[in-house]
Amino acid sequence: MEMLKNLDKIVNLCKARGLIFPGSDIYGGMGNTWDYGPVGVELKNNIKHAWWKRFVQEQSNVYGVDAAILMNPRVWDASGHTASFSDPKMDCKSCKQRFRADNLIEEHSKGKVSAEAMTNEEMEAYIADNKIKCPHCGNFNWSPIRQFKLMFETSRGTVEGEKDVVYLRPETAQGEFVNFLNVQRSMRAKVPFSIAQIGKAFRNEITPGNFIFRTIEFEQMELQNFCKEDDAMALYDTYKQKALQFVLDLGFKPDHFRFHDHEKLAHYAKAACDIQYLFPIGWEELNGIHHRSTWDLSRHQEYSGKPMTYLDPITNEKYIPNVIEYSIGADRLTLAVLCEAYDEETLENGETRVVMHFHPAIAPFKVAVLPLQKNLSDKAKEVYAMLSKEFRCEYDEAGSIGKRYRREDEIGTPFCVTIDFDTLENNTVTIRDRDTMEQIRLSIDELIPYIDKRIKFN
Ligand code: GAP
Repeated sequence: MEMLKNLDKIVNLCKARGLIFPGSDIYGGMGNTWDYGPVGVELKNNIKHAWWKRFVQEQSNVYGVDAAILMNPRVWDASGHTASFSDPKMDCKSCKQRFRADNLIEEHSKGKVSAEAMTNEEMEAYIADNKIKCPHCGNFNWSPIRQFKLMFETSRGTVEGEKDVVYLRPETAQGEFVNFLNVQRSMRAKVPFSIAQIGKAFRNEITPGNFIFRTIEFEQMELQNFCKEDDAMALYDTYKQKALQFVLDLGFKPDHFRFHDHEKLAHYAKAACDIQYLFPIGWEELNGIHHRSTWDLSRHQEYSGKPMTYLDPITNEKYIPNVIEYSIGADRLTLAVLCEAYDEETLENGETRVVMHFHPAIAPFKVAVLPLQKNLSDKAKEVYAMLSKEFRCEYDEAGSIGKRYRREDEIGTPFCVTIDFDTLENNTVTIRDRDTMEQIRLSIDELIPYIDKRIKFN
């Protein structure tokens, strides 16, 4: 296995090259918040688009929704979040820092001991027996474990003193479940069918975020597959493979992934598994696939009083469908894409080239138009105007051509089109490939079909 990449270098590159900035930067930032810059927003949008294309556009019986972030608070009673969506936290009584007990155990044992299936008492005993000290001040002076609520609360109401608590949704999934009947009836959907959504979720995470790996505001890309009980396990296995194939098709190396079955299942779950990616911080969850049985729809039936049943039009069988959930964080996938793409190459002249080998379909810019000299800019702008009708393009005329290539390599632009004096003579340009650095000459008319073919994601 190759060396893990250096996360700090990736964070620095992201800031310097307009991919991702610390949130509220001029105020000294705010823990676990990040802003996507002009280059990063293109990358993340392309990732979301590739996911939507693969799982919504190219599959039949998948329906998209965009549900409200603020939902009736009863939703969170039904889902179980108000009662139990919390992390086991311990405070260091010396330096007042707060930590997740399970993280303390896993970091102390360097990942060899999993606290996933431990009770709070077992975690406290492990921490005491192994004298695990505060990672911040080095003292051993812990409070007992307390459950720390992860849902952000806000309030709604116009009359002073009569405000109702509402929550920022901690997952997008409930927006899909509460619309089960609306989608099924309006689209005349037949089981098996799926509801998909991409949207923001919020969690009061106080543990170190590791850049955009864990943030308090993030986007999820989720698919709830509604099916018959007898078909659920096969669908669960299918989605494990589909989820893996999606990232492999984005150009990831197969040995950077592994399946991780959950050791502790929720009482209603029949199976649950993560796909883990080898991040610079080690093997960590990229996405989850969960067999949730009839739990979600049954709970919404109970709490809303509305029957969540499906009537099979052929057999006349009436039942509450099972759910197979596939959930992946758009930001977490963006981080994995950044880590996978980052490369430092030593060139023949001994210089180091930093290059992002993004799959062309998700590269922030598809092509950069570079006039060799400033007096070629009129022609170059003409080519830019033509290409930018089809692709997200860059235009750069500042500095030596070598420096301009390096800048495009750093943001992963797959093609650089150079306008030179021959262009004025015969309407041809050079097009340089980011990965091989090879250049070929094409007529301007050939550019769009050439680039179009090379950036497809199938
Ligand atoms: N509806 C199921 C659900 O929310 P989850 O495992 O809690 O399941 C699904 O979250 C995915 O969302 C994770 O695999 C991860 O990719 C992403 N995710 C969860 N918490 C996150 C956070 N704090 N920051 C960034 N991404 C997060």
